[in-house]
This record gives sequence, structure tokens and C-alpha cells, in this order.
Amino acid sequence: MSKGISGFSKLSKDEKIGWIAQNYFSNPEGAADLIRKYWNADAALQQLHDEFIENTITNFYLPLGVAPNFTINGREYIIPMATEESSVVAAASKAAKFWSARGGFKATVINTEKIGQVHFIYKGDAAKLQAFFDAIKPKLISGTAHLTANMQKRGGGILDIALRNKTSELPDYYQLHATFDTKDSMGANFINSCLEQFSKTLKEEALNHDAFTDEEKNLQVIMSILSNYVPNCTVRAEVSCPVADLCDDKGIDPEEFASKFLTAVWIAEIEPYRAVTHNKGIMNGIDAVVVATGNDFRAVEAGVHAYASAGGQYTSLSHAKIEDGIFTFWLELPLALGTVGGLTSLHPLVRLSHEMLGNPNAEELMQIVAVAGLAQNFAALRSLTTTGIQQGHMKMHLMNILNQLQATDSEKGQAVRHFEKNTVSHSAVHDYIDRLRNFDPANIEKDFLQ
Ligand code: MEV
Repeated sequence: MSKGISGFSKLSKDEKIGWIAQNYFSNPEGAADLIRKYWNADAALQQLHDEFIENTITNFYLPLGVAPNFTINGREYIIPMATEESSVVAAASKAAKFWSARGGFKATVINTEKIGQVHFIYKGDAAKLQAFFDAIKPKLISGTAHLTANMQKRGGGILDIALRNKTSELPDYYQLHATFDTKDSMGANFINSCLEQFSKTLKEEALNHDAFTDEEKNLQVIMSILSNYVPNCTVRAEVSCPVADLCDDKGIDPEEFASKFLTAVWIAEIEPYRAVTHNKGIMNGIDAVVVATGNDFRAVEAGVHAYASAGGQYTSLSHAKIEDGIFTFWLELPLALGTVGGLTSLHPLVRLSHEMLGNPNAEELMQIVAVAGLAQNFAALRSLTTTGIQQGHMKMHLMNILNQLQATDSEKGQAVRHFEKNTVSHSAVHDYIDRLRNFDPANIEKDFLQ
């Protein structure tokens, strides 16, 4: 029987939970209890979260960790990171400490231009459309005055609008391609509002344009929307030091390490299968800070991966070189971020993250986020080209496995000590906990002292 429902959004939160519990769970009471267990005891705080989205039934936790010891452009930071993946925060912290002893990270914002487009169909003479566009361009801009006043006060606004003829790719398809400076806001609402106003002006003006035929007058706007591809909103983060200084407490040979590290980066530059994983490692750092600071990680992900394929083949976002004995490792990527608007002033933990970072403006936040990505990539490549990723990863993963096995605090303590000297794997941890739970003093040597 269908479990469809109409009017679900109108139900109270309790009614929604009751309906879901009854219809989708073998133990309705247990499911409803679990859902409620994650509510915040502070009713006002819970209501705030309820109202972020629709049909909220509870909260879904993501740990917020911090990576200390970052030095960026000479300033010290502790970086908040919201992620579910073990090792990410530890790796960032390690890379931060490593590089803070070697001059720290340097970051520069290259440009900050955002893009939005009105996509429309015009069946007619292209030259007439161009002349029409040139004539109405001032009106397109002045028509948004009520939307742009505040942004202009902050030094931002519409940068330009161009008419783009895309008919060679799709019959009768044109765009108004607009560029914006949205200052410290990510700008999605501002851009989309401006675009919808452009679209209105475009349609109205076309209808009154005497030089157009009836068909030309009735150009059809398909949609007006910002683009998450922002190749001119980019930031560069970099570290460098003499190759000899790449040695660390593990006694790695710096020359050999640098050479393997560079080769690993070159592999990611030419091999898409590797590049995707390489960049995923970068995004481990980037997304964690983007989420902690209340930014749109889907927009960032989409834009970054489009940028990584801009040359026609997906490639590494980071690069490395050795010149005159100096090892340099850097990345360049697009980041459309905001430090005002959206969740930034609404979510208490987002506000906390911003304050922890010293309340950066959008450009500073771009630098911090890019650095988190570079640090993460450095840590991953260092592990991959030396010990292998599993050693550190599985140690961090140990706690997840212990939690899955519902280990007690005492079992966890014993397991952590045991796995300091033994290889972590799911089955090894399982066996160890089994043996602890079925402890037989007669087998103490076999079970625990080997
Ligand atoms: C795991 O989340 C990320 C890595 O796979 C990144 C990489 O391979 O560079 C370790």
C-alpha cells in the first residue's frame, strides 16, 4: 500500500514524527525516541534550527573540531573544521605545525568576480538583438537600482552585462552574461534578484521595441540564475622552504621525500583517476571549513571541480616545484564565500567559528579555506609517499570501530594501548574486543601478551 501523504508539511513536528515512526519503523517508539534524543534542550535554539529548513524532525550532528598552529601571511589561526571523517583534523593540525616552523602559509586572493546569467530564446535577427541590447543596457542596470543600493554602499554591485550569442551551440539561444562584485557576501540572493530584474526589463523592453517583429518581441526567458562556476573568483595558497628543511622527526630523507612528493603531484596533474582522489583530499580540508563557517559547500564543490576540468581534462588543483633548492607547493582554486548574510549571523556555531578565525572578511576567509585545502593535501601526500595512508588513518579510525562495537571506556583504553603496537583493521579490532569480552585468565599470554 502507498505511504504517500498530502499536507505533511502542515503537520506539527510531533505529528510528523509520529507518522514517520508508525509508517517506516518496526519499532516506532524506539525511532521516535531516537529522533527526540537529538533535540536541543534549549527550546529557542531548537526552534532556530527547526526553521533553517522545512519538515525538520531533529538535528543531525557533525563534529566540530579545531586545527591549531596555522600561520597564514604571518598571522596565527586556529581553524574550525566540521567533518565526519577521522584523520582530517589531525592531518591539518600536523601540516599546520610543520609549516608554521618553516615560514607558514602564504595566501593571496587573485580576483573576486561572480557570475550570473539570464538564459533566453530569441527567434530573429542577431544584429537587431545586439543593437537592442546596446540600447537597453543602461535600463537593465538602472532597473536594479532598488536592489543594488546597499551593495553599492559596500563597494560592490553589478560589474558588467554582456549579450552572448550561443546559437551555434543551441538554436536561438542567447544569454545576458552578468558579472558582479558581492563584497563580503556570497551573493547568491543578490545576484539572483538582479538577474530576475534583468529578465523583467528585457521582456518589457523587447515588447516595446519597434524594430522587432512580433516573434522577436516575444523573446522567451528560460531561466535567470547565478553560476557556481566562478573561474574569476580565485585564491592561491602556497608553502615553500629549502628542500633540506623538509626533514622531520621521522628521519625522512628530504631529497627523496621532495622527489617522491613532486612525482605524486605530477601524477595527479596528468592522470584524472588520481587527480579526483588528490582533489578530494584537498576538499576534505576545504569543505570542513566551508561548513564550519556556514558557507555553501555544494556550490564550492561544483565550482572547484569545474575549474579542475577547465583545460578539457580533469587535473590536480595543486602543483609543486623545486627551483634553486627551494621546494614550493601551491594551489589555486575558485571559492565563492561569504562572511555576511546566509547562515553566518544565524547559526550560533557558525558565528563562533567566524569569531575563532578573528571575524575575517570574505577575502581573508578565501585565504584561510584555501590554506586548509593545501595543508590537507600536503598531509595526504606526505603520508601516501612515506608510510602509506592506512597507518595514520586506521589509528584514527580505531575509535569509530570501537564505537561500532559499543566498546566501554575501559575496553577503548585497552584497545588504544594494544593498537599502538599492532596494525588496526576492522577484523583485528573485532577479534581483540571479542577476546577482551571472553577473557580467560588461562589464555592471558596467548590473547594479550604477544
Ligand atoms: C581520503 O579522504 C583522502 C585521500 O585519499 C586523499 C589523497 O589520496 O590524496 C587520502
